Amino acid sequence: MFRCLFLSAILFLPALAQSSLGPREGWAILPSNPSLTASPSWACVPGIRASEGAIKLGSTTGFIGQVNSSGPRLLVSGDFSIIARFSNSTQLGGWVELESQPATSPSVFWRGLKKVDFGVTGGRASLIVWTGEKDSPSINQNFNLAATPNTNVDLELARVGNQLVLFSGSRELGRVADPGVFSSGSLNFGLLTAGGNEISLSQLAVSQPAGVDGNAVFASRPTHKVPRSGNGLRDLAASRNFLVGNIFSGSALNNESSYNAIGREFNAATPGNDLKWESTEPELGRFTFCAADRLLEYADAAGQKMRGHVLVWHEQLPGYVNNGTWTRETLLAAMRSHILAVAGRYKGRLYAWDVVNEAIDDAAPHGLRSTIFSRVIGPDYLDFAFRYAKEADPAAKLFYNDYGGEGMGPKSQGVFNLVTAMKARGVPIDGVGLQLHYGLAGSPSAGEVEQNIRRLAQAGFEVQITEFDITAPLPDSPARQAEQATLYRSFYRACRAVPQCTAFIIWGVADSDSWILTFRPGNFGGLLLDNNGWNKPAYYALQQELGGTRAPAPSIAGGGVVNAASYLSTPAFSEGSFFSIFGANLAAKIEVWDNEFQQGRAPTTLGGVRVLVDNKPAFLSLVTPGQINAIAPAGTIAGSSKVVVELNGQPSELVTATAAATSPAFFLFSPRNNRYAVAISADGASLIAPSDLFGGPVSGRSVRPAKPGESVILYGSGFGQTAPESVIGRIPTSAATLSKPFAIRIGTATLTVDYAGRSGFVGVYQFNIRIPDLPDGEYELVGELDGVRTSMGRFIAIQK
Ligand code: XIL
Repeated sequence: MFRCLFLSAILFLPALAQSSLGPREGWAILPSNPSLTASPSWACVPGIRASEGAIKLGSTTGFIGQVNSSGPRLLVSGDFSIIARFSNSTQLGGWVELESQPATSPSVFWRGLKKVDFGVTGGRASLIVWTGEKDSPSINQNFNLAATPNTNVDLELARVGNQLVLFSGSRELGRVADPGVFSSGSLNFGLLTAGGNEISLSQLAVSQPAGVDGNAVFASRPTHKVPRSGNGLRDLAASRNFLVGNIFSGSALNNESSYNAIGREFNAATPGNDLKWESTEPELGRFTFCAADRLLEYADAAGQKMRGHVLVWHEQLPGYVNNGTWTRETLLAAMRSHILAVAGRYKGRLYAWDVVNEAIDDAAPHGLRSTIFSRVIGPDYLDFAFRYAKEADPAAKLFYNDYGGEGMGPKSQGVFNLVTAMKARGVPIDGVGLQLHYGLAGSPSAGEVEQNIRRLAQAGFEVQITEFDITAPLPDSPARQAEQATLYRSFYRACRAVPQCTAFIIWGVADSDSWILTFRPGNFGGLLLDNNGWNKPAYYALQQELGGTRAPAPSIAGGGVVNAASYLSTPAFSEGSFFSIFGANLAAKIEVWDNEFQQGRAPTTLGGVRVLVDNKPAFLSLVTPGQINAIAPAGTIAGSSKVVVELNGQPSELVTATAAATSPAFFLFSPRNNRYAVAISADGASLIAPSDLFGGPVSGRSVRPAKPGESVILYGSGFGQTAPESVIGRIPTSAATLSKPFAIRIGTATLTVDYAGRSGFVGVYQFNIRIPDLPDGEYELVGELDGVRTSMGRFIAIQK
């Protein structure tokens, strides 16, 4: 209550300028920061142009719709509205899209698609609703506006009860029955334009009835909460003033286990593809930085040193560079503007750049490779590239980077001759990157690599191992992984033997992300983590070289996977229900509670721990070395499930646990920081003897009598899904009720249940009951769901 008042007070604080969208009477605008149309995420949506706080989408052909799936996302329940200001409305035929559920079929655009489009067309307001069952909208209606618009049009789409209502200003234009289009409980914003038109939206806002809290809530996108374990490779490296780095990509960040490992293990990061010419300047003079920005945002949040790769390279070049008709002057100018734009954009943020990549020919005599740059500009293109890079970012260390010239041989001689000659000419070059992409066979010896590094260091260069991987031929085997580990060790030592070798950077983190899978078929990846994200021998080799010791693997106790409420292992859980795991070394720290959990979301990684149920991550609320509390994920089906605990990429053994369709049980925990509860009376007192979370006998006996008629709250787990949200780790936004027949009894009396549904905790059911009028005494409390009884004794005493 207090919180509601506080929030509604805040709502009026932002200076609502005259030109801002206003709420209708009795409603309040949700503060959004940054404003919805000003979110930088719009610039990353193909086709959408963002300028001066407005967003635009034009089409010269047919209808084009674009949803911003990385920008603001809204969780909705109950009444809420979206208000939009359409400017430029003389060109009509533009809509705001509210996408509740994207199409569920990759080939059929409408199947599963749930969305509302509201906007202006032909001088009238338009409301279009798609519900995913047919190839046309289920609602498509136009409404007259007060006057034919020729300036801004403000439209508001409100869900009020079970109706969708369209307003213009405070005037209602019309309403339709809501076919449940926002049933997913969340929406993404997008724009839709008709062919030959351009929609321009200058403002977008969200409102909800004043005084309510939480009908519409902005959900955060990728949290950028980058995990640190405190004992990752990066922590060992930092104390040695050394960089252990990784190349990464958007797809690795989309993989939860890689996302975590990258933040946890590395103190340096290199975007793998997103700074290459074809990514940053796909058309001459048109630059795109969305993908790179996203990576660098991650690296910043992780406190990693960032390395730029690469400004000038003959591969991954857009067609216009390779196929253009250039003169020396025009190509130099294009190269300069490319370097100034790209390196200039990240000026001061990247500690180093690979300025030129792979310029030395593979074939003897290992002179300059013939590329568009060497042919059109001439051999001095490298000098220019380095000078331009210096001009763009004077503080960045400038590297020449290559493969195959890491040991002592003709190619490395070619590299040495190139870079020493450049230095002698006064070209600003600081370092040489040795890629070191090798397999089990065919690599130079570590001794030669050390010799080469030493020679470069003596010539005044800093050296970094920039793209390390050691692939091995399939099939994957412990023996081959052990060989990979040996090579990791020896090349790491070669680098560390020379103080000027400052970084050991690995080209990817988990084998499943490795470029090798497409580039060298028949091999498996040569990285630190395997396809499941679990540490390989190479990881432990590097950890040991860095002075660390291998932590013991987590281990689950026999019969240690239990229902968190009953502590019984049969059944241990059902979809969306709480369960506990008991064991040893399950977490690195004494106790990690999740902050997000209290905000109504449960994470799948907590304190470096993940729990997988049949390979699907469970939601976590507490991890300790001896106990984990988790929620069974979506898709948990009755039968036996394989459970594994993973701690910092190290898995426990797989254990088999029993899942059921339902596993009803009432909690018997102490209401600790409001996180757990037991049968509690209206005054907050516990009626049943709580067990402390860490030991103490679980008696389940009454500790305080209740009066007939008294209201009591029970919490339970395993009563089936509380709503789809509970199996996606969120408190349901709609008041879900039990879908199966259930009853709660005290002794022989069947209780009046005032409420059965979601609680304020993810994965927890709540029941509000009233104590029956029974003679004084202690009675057993039993819940029954679909014929399955709660299985553990809980006793409530009644006293008049
Ligand atoms: C690779 C990327 O990892 C791949 O995703 C991409 O398709 C091709 O390029 N030497 C380099 C890197 O300098 O840029 C290359 O990266 C690997 C070889």
